[in-house]
Amino acid sequence: MRLAQRVAALAPSATLAITARANELKKSGHDVINFGAGEPDFNTPDVIIDAANAAMRAGATKYTPSAGTLELRKALSEKFRQENGLRYTPDSIVVTSGAKHALYLAFQALLNPGDEVLIPTPYWTTYPEQVKLADGIPVFVPGDPKRNGKIDARQLRQAITTHSRVLVLNSPNNPTGAVYNTKELSDIVDVALDADLMIFSDEIYEHFLYEDFPTSCSVAALSSAAFNHTLTINGASKTYAMTGWRIGYAAGPKPLIDAMVNLQSQSTSNPTSFAQAATITALREAQEAIRGMYDAFVQRRSFCLEAIARIPGINCIPPAGAFYVWMDISGWLGKRSETRLLENADDAAAALLDEAQVAVVPGTSFGSNHHLRISYATSLEELQRGFQRISAFAYSLQDGPME
Ligand SMILES: Cc1ncc(COP(=O)(O)O)c(C=O)c1O
Repeated sequence: MRLAQRVAALAPSATLAITARANELKKSGHDVINFGAGEPDFNTPDVIIDAANAAMRAGATKYTPSAGTLELRKALSEKFRQENGLRYTPDSIVVTSGAKHALYLAFQALLNPGDEVLIPTPYWTTYPEQVKLADGIPVFVPGDPKRNGKIDARQLRQAITTHSRVLVLNSPNNPTGAVYNTKELSDIVDVALDADLMIFSDEIYEHFLYEDFPTSCSVAALSSAAFNHTLTINGASKTYAMTGWRIGYAAGPKPLIDAMVNLQSQSTSNPTSFAQAATITALREAQEAIRGMYDAFVQRRSFCLEAIARIPGINCIPPAGAFYVWMDISGWLGKRSETRLLENADDAAAALLDEAQVAVVPGTSFGSNHHLRISYATSLEELQRGFQRISAFAYSLQDGPME
């Protein structure tokens, strides 16, 4: 069958593919440990599930406005005011089927053919694919490995051309866990504003902050110019362990939001009605539940850092946020495992899955061929077992070519 060119060139989501493969192996009886998942292992807190049940019984089973219900957009407006110091009115907010869909709508609404979108590397694997789907051109801005992949104002300036239209920022970052501080962000944002760029600020990991970052820093809160040029993207998936509910949202300049709502009205109509209702409860009543999850992430992160420090050939910069460790495996490359010569991250991820039954995502999907992404959104017991296997794998590596 002849398919459209736009889908022929589309790379499938590597993270979802790894999770699917690990689950498949598990189902067929293999003892696979999955460090690939980009989602909290906890179930959604009961208070949110109960709210969805109640909403369904109360009749929230019908279409909603395409922008999302007014009640939820009011609750989000309040969230932005309280947590981010941002004054978004409900009509400058759109609720979408996940943050991924908010980004999709935004690129579709803003880009014309040939428009360039600046994406710091490493990046979340979806950004360049969505840019291409909107006929835009992804332009990668290589982050500084010594600063866990963060870019600075100078690097951004060098990458800007007359075709640059959007800068994507993602702090805390997937896959590195890097977090920009206020000064770093405002220097970058100044350059972006000078070049009249729109900034898409993906803040979906805002509640996963460790070390020196007690509160999140929203790009749009930096100045009124930043506010006017930023689309803030966020969602319920990570904070409330609601990945399957598909609730995301974006807030920003009204003409862009209106265009996104219009597109949504002709594509998905609206995000699921009772999931929207339950998200209001999540925003207002799930604070205690998310504190418990956060404490678990703090413990798991420390465990990973200690484990990695003891394993030969790998290292990482302690991630200040999110729930990933960006593991540099340069010391493994050029060595051989039981089944293959490890020439890049893809080889290492495949060998780990085949030989140690540990699923990780190769850095290639995020723009690096010498990193693996470890997700610590899994139990401490699984982390202990998994790192024991990674350690045994590291010690089994041999120098020299395959026999
Ligand atoms: C950086 C980043 N942004 C957005 C998303 C999308 O999340 P969702 O569509 O579940 O809201 C993810 C999910 O992995 C992510 O890592």
